[in-house]
Amino acid sequence: MRLTDCHNFHDFRELARRRLPGPIFNYIDGGADDEVTLRRNTESFECCDLVPNILRGVGEVDLSVTVMGRRLALPVYCSPTALQRLFHHDGERAVAAAASRYGTMFGVSSLGTVSLEELRKAYSTPQVYQFYFHKDRGLNRAMLERARTAGVDIMMLTVDSITGGNRERDLRTGFSIPFRLTLAGMLQFAIKPRWGINYVSHERFKLPQLDQHVDMSGGALSIGRYFTEMLDPSMKWNDVAEMVRQWNGQFCLKGIMSVADAKRAVEIGCTGIVVSNHGGRQLDGSRASFDQLAEIVDAVGDRINVLMDGGVQRGTHVLKALSLGAKAVGVGRYYLFPLAAAGQAGVERALELMQTELQRDMKLMGCTAISQLSRANLRFR
Ligand SMILES: Cc1cc2nc3c(=O)[nH]c(=O)nc-3n(C[C@H](O)[C@H](O)[C@H](O)COP(=O)(O)O)c2cc1C
Repeated sequence: MRLTDCHNFHDFRELARRRLPGPIFNYIDGGADDEVTLRRNTESFECCDLVPNILRGVGEVDLSVTVMGRRLALPVYCSPTALQRLFHHDGERAVAAAASRYGTMFGVSSLGTVSLEELRKAYSTPQVYQFYFHKDRGLNRAMLERARTAGVDIMMLTVDSITGGNRERDLRTGFSIPFRLTLAGMLQFAIKPRWGINYVSHERFKLPQLDQHVDMSGGALSIGRYFTEMLDPSMKWNDVAEMVRQWNGQFCLKGIMSVADAKRAVEIGCTGIVVSNHGGRQLDGSRASFDQLAEIVDAVGDRINVLMDGGVQRGTHVLKALSLGAKAVGVGRYYLFPLAAAGQAGVERALELMQTELQRDMKLMGCTAISQLSRANLRFR
């Protein structure tokens, strides 16, 4: 199976599965507890049907949107994800290059493996910095200043990870950073030697967003301990309000699921929210993002940019979310499997397929601009 054999999400997932050691594939693929939310995220799109219009003259389609003051050529962006150089040795460099080629936004995680400064210098497409809130307020301030100096466009604070999700696949394989594999997990690495050769023959694995602030060298602090020891579960709205004031720019909360919280985000001056359950990796049993989108758009959509992510695998999923009122749609695994399968070429192929699907689907819907999509296009079963 090669990249050219990949025509959709499932093909990329299969190629990634063949190329990655099992523990790494399962880290990307898996969710929390019984993975109910993970599955529901995609299923929820299937409970909603599109109602097309015809004969509207659809020669040229414009897929561009404006999100938090930035114009994107595509209504789909690469949501921030951790540890990308574990999936392919080019990691964030490949994702940023592909996002830039398709004129869309990419996120850099606090647990990213390439520095936000390097990526900012290399690409001019809008860059999001995904932030976790630390107990040490001085550290938070220093990290915000660093992101500002680097020229980050949008600050995105993840608020659904106040504690780590229960990812049982990772417990079984022993996936953690640094690796603490079970015997079965080690065997999975042994049967994928190509991944190992790539890993050791490229630049050393690092977490440059944290390196200057936290000693994670030589396994001193695992990511699990970083979450439990350094991040602040006592974070409250007034802490975030202070961060919003300090950043004094585009500020987005990622992981909002309730109308009450969406309203609070508006009150403290956020300019965006992402309706998200972290791809089903945190609170299992949480409602699907798509199911929760309409009530949040109705409550705050005229005052704040409402984005959504979770379970998106198709152009039609994106059109359904946009029809409900999302300003743009984030994807995670949709680009991570292609990254693992084939690096930059993989992510570019995935974005190319998405762009082609969106163009075709917009024409079939009878629309030439994203602003023409509305709830009149949708029926729920
Ligand atoms: C492997 C992996 C790592 C992730 N790492 C982060 C992260 O570091 N910070 C964050 O806010 N979200 C992270 N996410 C969540 C994504 O940003 C996004 O919300 C989610 O993947 C969307 O669901 P989808 O994968 O079904 O598209 C991660 C997701 C995956 C699959």
